[in-house]
Order: sequence, then C-alpha cells, then structure tokens
Amino acid sequence: MNWQTFASAASLSDHAAHLLLRAVQKNPRIVLGLPTGRTPVGMYERVVRECEREYHCFRDVTTFNLDEYAGVPREHPGSYFTYMKQHLFDHVDIDPRNAHLPNGMAPDLDAECVRYEKAIREAGGLALTFLGLGRNGHIGFNEPGSPFDACTRVVTLTPSTRAANAEFFPEGNVPERAITMGIGTILESREIVLLVAGSGKQEAIERLRSGEVTEDFPASALWKHPNLTVLIAQD
Ligand code: GLP
Repeated sequence: MNWQTFASAASLSDHAAHLLLRAVQKNPRIVLGLPTGRTPVGMYERVVRECEREYHCFRDVTTFNLDEYAGVPREHPGSYFTYMKQHLFDHVDIDPRNAHLPNGMAPDLDAECVRYEKAIREAGGLALTFLGLGRNGHIGFNEPGSPFDACTRVVTLTPSTRAANAEFFPEGNVPERAITMGIGTILESREIVLLVAGSGKQEAIERLRSGEVTEDFPASALWKHPNLTVLIAQD
C-alpha cells in the first residue's frame, strides 16, 4: 500500500483529480470505477474545472459507479445517479451511454447485478477505481461481513450507514437496500485509489493501518491488492 497524507481535504482533492486526469490523458479510452459520498466531491469539482479548459477529456471514457440505492428513482435528489449528474456527468463530455450506474429500480435486482457485472467485463474491466471509506470500513456498499470474493449484488444497509446518509433523504425514507459492486469486483480493478477525508474516519484509518485482514472490516481486503494508493486528509 502506498499511503499519502494531506494537510487538508482540498489538497487531497487536488491530488486525486490529478491522478484521474493523468490516467485519462494516458489512456483516453480508460474504464474508471467511480465513488459517491461527500469525500470525492472536491475531486469532481477540480476535474470539471480542468475539463472546461480541455473539453474533450471524457469523450471516450467509460465509467462504472460503485453502487446505487435500491428502490430510489434515478430522478430522486438522493440517488447516486443524481449525484453523478450534478457533480460530474452534466459538466463533461462523457457519452451518457458510457456512464454506468446500477439500476436500483430494475424489476429484477439480482438480474440487474448480473448485467452490471457483465457490462464491466465487456468494457474490458476496471482500469482505475476510486473509493471512499465508510466509518465502519465499508467500501462501495460492502458492509462488514461482506465476502471478499463477492460480485455485484444486492445488499442490506446497516443502521449506521443509513444514519450517515439520512440527510440526503429528508422525507425520512432512507433506503434499506442497495446494489453494490462486490469486493471481488473492486479488487479486479487494475489500480485502486482510496480517498479518506471527513469526520469520524480516524478509527477506520487506524484499523486499516493495523494490517489485519478480516471480513469484519471490508476495506482491509484492499491489502490484497497489488496497486493501491491511500490518500488521507488530516483536517
Ligand atoms: C456511502 C457510499 C460509499 C462512500 C461512503 C463514505 O455509503 N456508498 O461509497 O465511500 O458513503 O461517504 P463519505 O465520503 O460521505 O464519508
């Protein structure tokens, strides 16, 4: 693991955006795995700003988001589809056909998971995946206890994860389930960058640093990956 510490979330975001754009420059047809949450907002802001100057950045890029809530319409302000449009897709020249999220409204969610996993494979697999870190160590929506070899699947969210995301569902109907890439899917990405910023992450950082690999702490699976960078903001 390559660990890099930043004085602020702003400098972490600058660096993460730099890594993303450099990878796109190197391979304009790259397949990216993308996260949501509060942590990557600054990275997306900077990516959008850079791409305004050079507006063909995403023309041939393909993206796959890590996860999406189940039973939440795409247009809902709390959906990850809406998040991605607001923070990235509406501001860059990505072809909407190449910007993938699991469809949490699919009539058969298990079939949707199979389709999503297959779509990642057919695109050539993830070349570079950015991840955030949940306070309980979740990555994507892989909660504690998730098998390390799991593919994309339907999961039940823990009460703590639902509480952490409650502000995006002010009507109180915080989703109970989601579709997430599995840890196995994530580990197949050829390169991974884990972004860690925000309050309440200290314990998770310590646990990750300890090096203990256990399904009780999903992010610890990343120790198995040969090309992982962890970016941590100290503020
Ligand atoms: C959600 C997302 C995760 C994200 C996590 C941390 O649960 N599904 O992919 O990493 O939140 O979010 P934040 O960056 O807001 O702390």
